Amino acid sequence: MHQVKLSENIHYVGVNDRKTHLFENYWPLENGMAYNSYLIDDEKVALVDTVERGFIEEYLDNIDAILEGRAIDYLIINHMEPDHSGAIRAIVNKYPNITLVGNKKTFPMLANFYNIQENTLEIAEGSELSLGKHTLTFYMIPMVHWPETMVTYVKEEKILFSADAFGSFGTLNGGIFDDELNLDFYEDEMLRYFSNIVGKYCPHTQRALAKLEGVDIRMIAATHGPIWRTDLNYVLERYKKWSSYETDPGVVILYGTMYGNTEKMADTIARQLSLRGIKDIKIYDASKTHPSIIIRDLFKYKGFIVGSCAYNNEMFPSVENILTKIEHMGVKNHLLGIFGSFSWNGGGVKNLKKFADNIKWDLVYDPIEEKGSLKGDKFAMCVNLANEMADRLLG
Ligand code: FEO
Repeated sequence: MHQVKLSENIHYVGVNDRKTHLFENYWPLENGMAYNSYLIDDEKVALVDTVERGFIEEYLDNIDAILEGRAIDYLIINHMEPDHSGAIRAIVNKYPNITLVGNKKTFPMLANFYNIQENTLEIAEGSELSLGKHTLTFYMIPMVHWPETMVTYVKEEKILFSADAFGSFGTLNGGIFDDELNLDFYEDEMLRYFSNIVGKYCPHTQRALAKLEGVDIRMIAATHGPIWRTDLNYVLERYKKWSSYETDPGVVILYGTMYGNTEKMADTIARQLSLRGIKDIKIYDASKTHPSIIIRDLFKYKGFIVGSCAYNNEMFPSVENILTKIEHMGVKNHLLGIFGSFSWNGGGVKNLKKFADNIKWDLVYDPIEEKGSLKGDKFAMCVNLANEMADRLLG
């Protein structure tokens, strides 16, 4: 078996999940997921985070291939979500003298999830733990992704074990380190991961980035996705941009349609945007597209134009589902347009206006509502909406 080393005595012992369809039973995993864990083999042996419980056997084998029967002294629990804590009980069973290292928010979760309350060591912001040649320092990064989340820094090697921060969807397919990978594969999956899993906590992410600014980091080892050792700025600059809601001048057009009238309006708006020089235009049918794709692209592009037909006096259900998710994520700093159609009574646009009121984005043009198929005056309004959006995006 290959042994993957981050440094002379720090090993990668993670696993790839190519079985699970939905992460957190919600987010599609078309490219799978890596659960990264690390072993520091020093005078005292420390394990950093574990893996999802479906991979315990493979995981214990990975560890044993390095330790060959020796024990582990410390388990560092950076994050308690079960994709990383799922093997804690198995680790405690196999290494009964292990000390579990976490902060004051870690241990109530450990008790609640796994009924484990013994052999714990509580550390706090800036605490140090010596393993012999390696010293661990702990920094709290609450809400990136849960309240107890922290990172662990090895000062002698300048390696940061960053928990979910800087993670990605997607398995590690042979390559583990950034310089071993074609990063095109991870670019969209990193953003889909950040926007959907951590995106609600952008201000917390900004605070975490500011805190880590003063730490001299040579390598970033997250709990998902590539290990960054060559081009740290690739991931750092993206996290700074995404967490500050900085976007590019493109447009996401989302629509819900039953018989194509609302879709026609979407196509009309898109064509005019293109005529005005907007090149990044994404059109999504709400009934076919998972919300994670829409939310990912909201973190890419500043323009969002949403259309809905009426459905029993309400918005179309698949549009409503996605808009509820967007409201819940609290995404900021977008330009908005709304449109829709109806047959005998409204409902789509009426409820899109409520979304506009709640989300408080900048509505660039009047709501457009057509009765039946798209006709002359509403066609002109669709063109006007696209023109206003293009004017605002292109400055
Ligand atoms: Fe990868 Fe929040 O767990």
